[in-house]
Amino acid sequence: MLMTTRMARWASLLGVSSLALAVTACGDSGPAALLTLDGNAPLVVGHRGAPGYLPEETLEAYTLAIEQGADVIEPDLVSTKDGVLIARHDPNLDYSTNVGTKAEFASRKKTITVDGETQTGWFASDFTLAEIKTLGGIMTTDSTRPQQYNGLYKVITFQEIVDLAITKSKEKGRTIAVYPETKNPTYHRDLGLPLEDKLIAIINATGWNSKTAPIYVQSFEPSSLKYLRSKGLNTRLIQLIDADDYDLKTGKLTYAAPYDRPYDWFKSGDKRLFSDMVTVAGLTEIKTYADGIGPWKPYIVPVKWELNAAGAAIDKNGDGATNLMDAVSQTPTTLVADAHKLGLLVHPYTFRNEKKRLTFDMAGDPTNEYLQFFRIGVDGMFSDFPDTAVAAKAKYLKETGR
Ligand code: G3P
Ligand code: CA
Repeated sequence: MLMTTRMARWASLLGVSSLALAVTACGDSGPAALLTLDGNAPLVVGHRGAPGYLPEETLEAYTLAIEQGADVIEPDLVSTKDGVLIARHDPNLDYSTNVGTKAEFASRKKTITVDGETQTGWFASDFTLAEIKTLGGIMTTDSTRPQQYNGLYKVITFQEIVDLAITKSKEKGRTIAVYPETKNPTYHRDLGLPLEDKLIAIINATGWNSKTAPIYVQSFEPSSLKYLRSKGLNTRLIQLIDADDYDLKTGKLTYAAPYDRPYDWFKSGDKRLFSDMVTVAGLTEIKTYADGIGPWKPYIVPVKWELNAAGAAIDKNGDGATNLMDAVSQTPTTLVADAHKLGLLVHPYTFRNEKKRLTFDMAGDPTNEYLQFFRIGVDGMFSDFPDTAVAAKAKYLKETGR
């Protein structure tokens, strides 16, 4: 007899091995039920490829993610001047390419507003695909990551990523899914370069327009997902849920523009915050147009400092500073259970190896963070280090008797 989901959740909360409880309660050594929505193993999503090792969103980074065992590869989509969907995290190419070193493009530098934020740089909508193909991707996110590949690998199109997933699925004998995000969709629509119809066209041409196809489409802007659905896109859709920052004193998230609410809500005067999406009412609304949520991690496990009698943060690791490494995980919220009750998948972001990104109770080991979230029942997660995530998943599956 298999352990029920409810039993497994209690086991997880009590810190008891699910397998042990299954054996004890049932006298049966079969594997315990997993807490994911569909009971399948959680997915490792190579967030922007494997950017812990190689410049993000390049063919090389996606290939490495697949070689490391990622189930899914994740591109962010922005548009070129000639309307091609390319994989870049931001319309501003200065953040993730060597465009700033190219004399021939110097005159295209400008200052504009993207989702209410003033940015200076070179913007994808001012470049044809052929021009963008002369650029090289660079490392973002963390200067401690390897820098020796900067500029070596090209910017690629969404079509190239789909082709890679199909080719590698055949080669590896396992399905590799793709997880595109419509990036700044209102901004692109205002430029006259909307993303959605082009995305649907590629998905249709690939024969992937179904709920079971190896693709998930994500966005922070509900109107982008609703538009995709209204135009006949039947794939799984995921609503991303952001916040501005942590307040480690209170353990609560903070909401400052432009990360307080989706940009389409801001533009339409909708005063709700991202936090309104994680209430039961918010999730119920998401369920009307999407199949899951992609929340920032602390929506699932809040993190907080321990305070001394004077109300100041305690330097738990004794390094003379107080930061995330001194914070401690709090009791998980009910978000995963609430979402699952409504039939929504839960894919939190972003898991990273660097010690400075781990709370004190992770003891400097990112595996502990993956295990923490697997045991809560997430359906997958976005990781910058797919190899670490895959190894942690194997450990988790082993502890559940698989
Ligand atoms: O798409 C999931 C997660 O990656 C959202 O954050 O900023 O990396 O796109 P971002
Ligand atoms: Ca410290």
